[in-house]
Amino acid sequence: METVDRMYMERALRLAFAGMGITSPNPSVGAVLVRDGEVISTGSTCACGGDHAEVCALRNACSPAEGGDLYVTLEPCCHQGRTPPCTDALIASGVRRVFLPILDPNPMVAGGGVGCLRSAGIEVVMMDEMASEANDLIRPFKKYILHDRPFVLHKAAMSLDGRIATGSGDSRWISGEASRFLVHRLRSLADAIIVGKGTVERDDPELSVRLGSFSDEVRQQFERQDPRIEGYRNHFLRLLLDSREFNPAASPLRVVFGIPDALRPGLKIFGDGNFLFIGAEKERGSMERREDHRFLRELEDSKRLVLVDGETPAAVVDNALRVLHGRGILMAVLEGGGKLAASFFDARAIDQYFYFIAPRIIGGGLPVLDGRGGDSIAGSPRLCDVSTVVIGEDLLYSAYDGIA
Ligand SMILES: NC(=O)c1ccc[n+]([C@@H]2O[C@H](COP(=O)([O-])OP(=O)(O)OC[C@H]3O[C@@H](n4cnc5c(N)ncnc54)[C@H](OP(=O)(O)O)[C@@H]3O)[C@@H](O)[C@H]2O)c1
Repeated sequence: METVDRMYMERALRLAFAGMGITSPNPSVGAVLVRDGEVISTGSTCACGGDHAEVCALRNACSPAEGGDLYVTLEPCCHQGRTPPCTDALIASGVRRVFLPILDPNPMVAGGGVGCLRSAGIEVVMMDEMASEANDLIRPFKKYILHDRPFVLHKAAMSLDGRIATGSGDSRWISGEASRFLVHRLRSLADAIIVGKGTVERDDPELSVRLGSFSDEVRQQFERQDPRIEGYRNHFLRLLLDSREFNPAASPLRVVFGIPDALRPGLKIFGDGNFLFIGAEKERGSMERREDHRFLRELEDSKRLVLVDGETPAAVVDNALRVLHGRGILMAVLEGGGKLAASFFDARAIDQYFYFIAPRIIGGGLPVLDGRGGDSIAGSPRLCDVSTVVIGEDLLYSAYDGIA
């Protein structure tokens, strides 16, 4: 692979990264169109129903694409969805070569796009050396399309002894400002942020993206320094640390599991109306006996409260994730607390663990996963693609569970 090919693909990957949280349930893809050694346009996937990255790049081109090379982060689609097949547009454009690092995991494509292009005489160059980088960005879509569930990243800030709060529930702030800034970057890429009712009752969190509320010093820290990733060179993490393209206006869906006991209108979770409560159907009886039952009925009628089946908390999690999948959520950031995270763990629903470990010892208090847990070490999930990076005085630990 030529250095210049790598450079164009890196640029396309940055475009794909910047679109995360905007394109769902489509995967976020980036494309760079090059002719005679010059970039003549770039494109990234538009919001759902809009053009895909390849078509954007062709449309944005300042001169004809004929004879040019397209670098695209995912195999072009070859089926009619909300938009026509991208392969048709590429064939019509007269591009000479298409460079791509990975095939589309969507069974409706899965190699079909490459086949269409080759049959039409377009040279397809597989950049296997960059497959891992591209795969890191496409993990949420893979989970969504192959397992009919959103990709769940569990983010937590904990003490060195694995506690997310003291026994009295105090948790502000365990991690440093730089770590918290990174969490807001992460939220800006997500489709949903999930917490348990215990966290809402204790903290009344806003769960919004507030990139602008951090000091210049913290923001510049990521621009000046190049934090070193040890272990697996996770490209998603790399771009989270060094990209400057984050959407300050992002507004992921705020999801609360359980119905807080005092559901007063001033709760910050209500914010701009983009919220969802998820409860268990078996609790409908007790819900109807609550003083605020009319308000709960209104929430249910407006689809901002959904009750799902499930005898155990883990079964409730699994059914709730089906609901979120149905609403087009590709990536959800699970932000705790300990009890809710434990039932996600029991449902084997956490795909990525993203833990900030701070230099504090609490000596008791709430554990990051407040459940029963397994009985044997041999039976506990062995995580993979483990990366660590020092953020200020905290250690960020990222690892994946299984399929992703
Ligand atoms: N450091 C951090 O990163 C961090 C992040 C978030 C929160 N926190 C801290 O964590 C504490 C809250 O944690 P928590 O464990 O007490 O509460 P939680 O996990 O936020 O909420 C647990 C409650 O949610 C309800 N729920 C509904 N569906 C559930 C399901 N499927 N599985 C489990 N629970 C479900 C249950 O209420 P019912 O029993 O009534 O059904 C349960 O008691 C606070 O002190 C907060 O400050 C720390």
